[in-house]
Amino acid sequence: MSYQTEHDHSMKDPAGFWRKQAEALDWFKFPEQILSLDDDGLGYWFADGEMNTAYMALDHHVKTGRGNQLALIYDSPVTDTKSRYTYAELTDVVARTAGMLANLGVVKGDRVIIYMPMIPEAVIAMLAVARLGAIHSVVFGGFASPELAIRIDDAKPKVILTASCGIEVKRVVEYKPLVDRAIDLAVHKPQSCVVYQRPQVTAPLVEKRDHDWAELLAKAKPVGCTPVKGSDPLYILYTSGTTGKPKGVLRENGGHAVALKYSMKAIYNVEPGDMYWASSDVGWVVGHSYIVYGPLLHGCTTIVYEGKPIMTPDAGALWRVCAEYGVKALFTAPTAFRAVKKEDPQALLMKNYDLSKLKVIYSAGERLDPPTEAWLTEHSGKPVVDHWWQTETGWAITANMQGIEPMTIKPGSSTVPVPGFNVQILDDSGQHVPQGTQGYIALKLPLPPACLNHVWGDENKFRESYLIFLPGYYTSGDGGYIDEDGYVFVMGRVDDVINVAGHRLSTGEIEEVIATHPSVAECAVIARDDELKGQVPMGFVVLKTGTTLSEAELQQQLVNRIRDTIGAITCYKDTVILTRLAKTRSGKTLRKTLAHIVNGKQYTVPSTIDDPAVIPEIIEVLRSKKFVSN
Ligand code: COA
Ligand code: AMP
Repeated sequence: MSYQTEHDHSMKDPAGFWRKQAEALDWFKFPEQILSLDDDGLGYWFADGEMNTAYMALDHHVKTGRGNQLALIYDSPVTDTKSRYTYAELTDVVARTAGMLANLGVVKGDRVIIYMPMIPEAVIAMLAVARLGAIHSVVFGGFASPELAIRIDDAKPKVILTASCGIEVKRVVEYKPLVDRAIDLAVHKPQSCVVYQRPQVTAPLVEKRDHDWAELLAKAKPVGCTPVKGSDPLYILYTSGTTGKPKGVLRENGGHAVALKYSMKAIYNVEPGDMYWASSDVGWVVGHSYIVYGPLLHGCTTIVYEGKPIMTPDAGALWRVCAEYGVKALFTAPTAFRAVKKEDPQALLMKNYDLSKLKVIYSAGERLDPPTEAWLTEHSGKPVVDHWWQTETGWAITANMQGIEPMTIKPGSSTVPVPGFNVQILDDSGQHVPQGTQGYIALKLPLPPACLNHVWGDENKFRESYLIFLPGYYTSGDGGYIDEDGYVFVMGRVDDVINVAGHRLSTGEIEEVIATHPSVAECAVIARDDELKGQVPMGFVVLKTGTTLSEAELQQQLVNRIRDTIGAITCYKDTVILTRLAKTRSGKTLRKTLAHIVNGKQYTVPSTIDDPAVIPEIIEVLRSKKFVSN
């Protein structure tokens, strides 16, 4: 089968194409409605099928003879711990954890927030919620209390599942005080909070509301899988948009299971029984799709890694794990590879490990820059496949389909549209741009299975954010071009979303935090290019008249404020005080021009600028602080 035949099939007969893929899964009742379209052209998949995602990912494998195969390996260099679960063991503990949640009153459709570090219980919690037909919302452990509070108020969970702590390289992060503060800040109060006590920290429990995980689990009985419809929600995952408030991307059970199962062979070329490792965190979409659901739906063994690519203990960490477990497909973010390259430029540590089982290295989360791709290809001798996707899609939009027809790798390109995705490059009036010209990357509706159709609790937000700008298309928020061979080059966001170490953040949200500082009159946050993390945020601030604060004092206060409000992962460091910002006559801040100046890119000063003299003024300030060189 060639890639082109497969993609053509998915375009000409989407229902037929995806019906066939759906047959690979163990449904309680196979769907009759494969695809239904609404007036906007949005596609709804497998709406009347009956199923349970946790059943497909666990019980099915036990039933069909995979019970003794390893389902999950936990490898934690930060605690010096390793453990393993077979499919039978994982099914059993998930069924009992579901029983624990059922005892707390969780039923189909209830929301459960999971705020946990990278331990097996985080995966178990997700699958247990799915088993009950409830909806999980995992919040990345690096987010601070106010971010957690926003998600609590939006998702309105009945229960929060957490752990006593997470472990970073240089510190232990106590989660429970963060959860307590978030619950205090939130208007919605969850009924219960269950705490997995880790040996490093014992968290104090609030009477009546809080419970000890181990104690509850010991009393719980296993429960079966609650059947849900294909269109019922599996999870909400919050992601940054252009405004301060994150969007709750809603994932439906049916399309999600079908797309992920298909992707495991088509994109990653792994078979049931293979070892698959996505080195990410369950708090991100990559973790949802390729630490938890994809590998388990396909009958692979997944790895939960609690560590970093460097420092735990060294830049050989990725290769050590691959060799120790015989990983066939490794997937992580370019930042991780850049960190390894910086620490071990000659890849000497890589040579200590037998990587013969590793067939392909996958990268996503941000653009894989050609020098890093070249370094990795040269030293590993493996194909390095960049693929482009988003929280909203849940799986890759463009990829080099290793299980269908591996194609030539072009540095800087994430290759071609994945079957089901109709990728087009448009200008802002919705017209196609000539081949090779940059424009908005848009996906013609309907989108394939797994992609979002709703923002939790806000139908207007979904339509406003993704559908209104280019009617008939989903607007990805990314810009790029397609070359003469049909290869897609994703060049970066065209909105105010920035990407820090593969983590998606909103400059608008950071600006909101800076603006609350009592000395700040106005501010603008832009993305500064960073050799290791891809981008880092940088703040321009105009102070209120009469402020005596020094730049260094202000900077430290803003760093603390942003860490406490959003989280340390923001990596906010640099603040520049200006006497005025560059603005248009209508008062819009020229963030793009500022970013281009800081990043040494060619910039144009728009004719709508209020006062062109502000630009040399700003350049002078940046030069004096060595942010620009000439
Ligand atoms: N809980 C609490 N804090 C967290 C956290 C978590 N789960 N994850 C990160 N943080 C903190 C870190 O401790 C750090 O705090 P510090 O400023 O006090 O040191 C800060 O957030 C920034 O973290 P990080 O971006 O991880 O930086 P780092 O310097 O610790 O590590 C890399 C650098 C390159 C090793 C790391 O960024 C990395 O592994 N990147 C790959 C990202 C990735 O896998 N993304 C997946 C998306 S597909
Ligand atoms: P997230 O929703 O957190 O997965 O972030 C999605 C965003 O990350 C996309 O909109 C892109 O801007 C960026 N991104 C992810 N993968 C790639 C890639 N392979 N190439 C370029 N950008 C990417």
